[in-house]
Amino acid sequence: MSNLQRLQQSLKAQSIPALMVSNLANVQWLTGFTGSFGVVLVTSDSGLMITDSRYTVQAQEQVTDLPSITYGSPLSFVEFLQKQVGELGISTLHIDENQVTVGSYNQWKKTLKGTTFVPDEDPIHKLRKVKSAAEIALVQEACQLADACLEYLLTQIKVGVTENELLYEIEQFFRKHGSTISFPPIVVSGERSARPHGVPSDKPLESGDFVTFDLGCKIKGYCSDITRTIVVGRATERHKEVYDQVLKAETTCIDALKPGVNGRDVDKLARQILDEKELAQYFGHGLGHGLGTLVHDSGRLSSTIDEPIEVGQIWTVEPGVYIEGFGGVRIEDDVVITETGNTILTHFPKELLEL
Ligand code: GLY
Repeated sequence: MSNLQRLQQSLKAQSIPALMVSNLANVQWLTGFTGSFGVVLVTSDSGLMITDSRYTVQAQEQVTDLPSITYGSPLSFVEFLQKQVGELGISTLHIDENQVTVGSYNQWKKTLKGTTFVPDEDPIHKLRKVKSAAEIALVQEACQLADACLEYLLTQIKVGVTENELLYEIEQFFRKHGSTISFPPIVVSGERSARPHGVPSDKPLESGDFVTFDLGCKIKGYCSDITRTIVVGRATERHKEVYDQVLKAETTCIDALKPGVNGRDVDKLARQILDEKELAQYFGHGLGHGLGTLVHDSGRLSSTIDEPIEVGQIWTVEPGVYIEGFGGVRIEDDVVITETGNTILTHFPKELLEL
């Protein structure tokens, strides 16, 4: 079943007569369109995508399940919307309450006088969590390229090379292989590795540094996301102790991820394992997030989200320990949930590398 058919089935089940999809990640999920402006009107048995003239040809190429049309002079977007809503016979239109601005909502209500707008939860958010076989295959491909990028980086790591130079190597690697980064890569070394999302700097790598690489790429709009930490030169006992405990948390949590388990409990498990060495106090973020058309796709493995894991979901698992003045370790893999457990999609080795 296509993503459009899944959405139409869900609209019928919830008695939603028509939906306007304006969140670009949802537009891409629904249609495959990757431009920067697109709005989709969907009813239980029809729909169309509206874009602007920058993307007319791209939309014709990418959007195959629905007609795509272009608005432009002399009509404004809202006037064009009014015409299309009328032609589709829509009188009640649900809109994404977390996406549409108050300004747009007020303008639409003023212009489309015969239409009732219903600000509502985004029904796609939930559907996006469970991936189709085709989506899983694309994430898997993106994971393979991310693994290859880490392999390449090993050849570039040496004392004196800067974090920014390694960042450049990552960006160039993905470009050379027909891909793009799925988020700004993280390269942090020494004490800077205690910044979970540190921005790469001109700091050169020094012997005795932890170096954390967090990177991923996109294949046909689908993302990968992998993190590894290495040591430049020889690891100390403290390096090994912290690393081994993060690794134990990561592998144990991956083993625990299966259908029916609550994501909140897996997050808790990571903290319990880190606390065997009094390290949970240095783990401030959640254990993982969904992965798909967005690097932070729908879903979180977190102490605040009480939801069971389902077959077809793709999760990152990424415990970390960040000790100011010392450094940090994060180990992250991507896994897809199967009937019996999960399959790991990223395969770069996880033993502590001393380079
Ligand atoms: N790996 C980057 C992120 O989770 O934001």
